[in-house]
Amino acid sequence: MHLLFPSDPFSSSSVDDAYAEEREAMRALGIECSLFSFEEFEAGKFRAKPAIPANAEVVYRGWMLTPEIYARLESAVGAAGSRLKTSSSQYRLCHYLPEWYESCRELTPETVFCQRDSDFAAVLSEKNWPGYFVKDYVKSLTTARGSVAATVQEVAKVVILIEKFRGQVEGGVCVRRLESLRPETEDRYFVVGGVAHARNGVVPPIVQEVASRISSPFYSVDIVEAEDGSLRLIELSDGQVSDRKNWPASRFAEVLSEG
Ligand SMILES: Nc1ncnc2c1ncn2[C@@H]1O[C@H](COP(=O)(O)OP(=O)(O)OP(=O)(O)O)[C@@H](O)[C@H]1O
Ligand SMILES: [Mg+2]
Repeated sequence: MHLLFPSDPFSSSSVDDAYAEEREAMRALGIECSLFSFEEFEAGKFRAKPAIPANAEVVYRGWMLTPEIYARLESAVGAAGSRLKTSSSQYRLCHYLPEWYESCRELTPETVFCQRDSDFAAVLSEKNWPGYFVKDYVKSLTTARGSVAATVQEVAKVVILIEKFRGQVEGGVCVRRLESLRPETEDRYFVVGGVAHARNGVVPPIVQEVASRISSPFYSVDIVEAEDGSLRLIELSDGQVSDRKNWPASRFAEVLSEG
């Protein structure tokens, strides 16, 4: 396995600060790492330093990419004679909610997928939900009024704010049934090579179930306890771009290196 990190925008020989701790943890386990300039890549040029060894299995660890840009990274790494361990279709599977939703339907809040310009109130007219949790295919609204709409009429207001604060609606709009959850119980698990790992303690059966259904080399699984005590799946994310949350870099590096 060979790790690929973004370099510091102002110093191509240093890793971006956000990933410094992880790179140290990877290197401590003897895993080789390269850096590349994200800005240069966005402008159409890909150069890894040091060069990625031929035939290496590359794991990217960096900022979220749209599936289209990830596919470009896949081609660039391929052109350099290596390959990304996670294919672009596997990346899309965990990065975009509608892609994994059907496989995990009964484990996660019911969701309706809409286009940006849909008439949300009309699409949701049959759904008499206690509330509506609104996000795009990737993220919720964490600023301003937050992602919860009390009525179907309010859904459009959240969408406008997602557009305002995030620049665009990525993919489309997901409207999820508001469930009674205990947010303080949310925890992130990582699945590496089909094996689920907990930061500490045991992996709950729901995570094992997700791991058996979703085939991608490296992804995160967010689980929360509901008010009734059951466990619910909140979201998946591609492991290459998901936040470590409260995972220490050393533990994160250890599970990634085992895959
Ligand atoms: N359907 C829902 N019903 C009730 N609460 C929800 C629902 N969906 C999400 N939440 C709450 O909102 C939080 C953020 O949702 P989600 O993880 O889907 O968005 P996100 O933008 O990825 O946020 P983050 O970056 O914090 O992970 C969740 O941790 C959960 O507590
Ligand atoms: Mg989340």
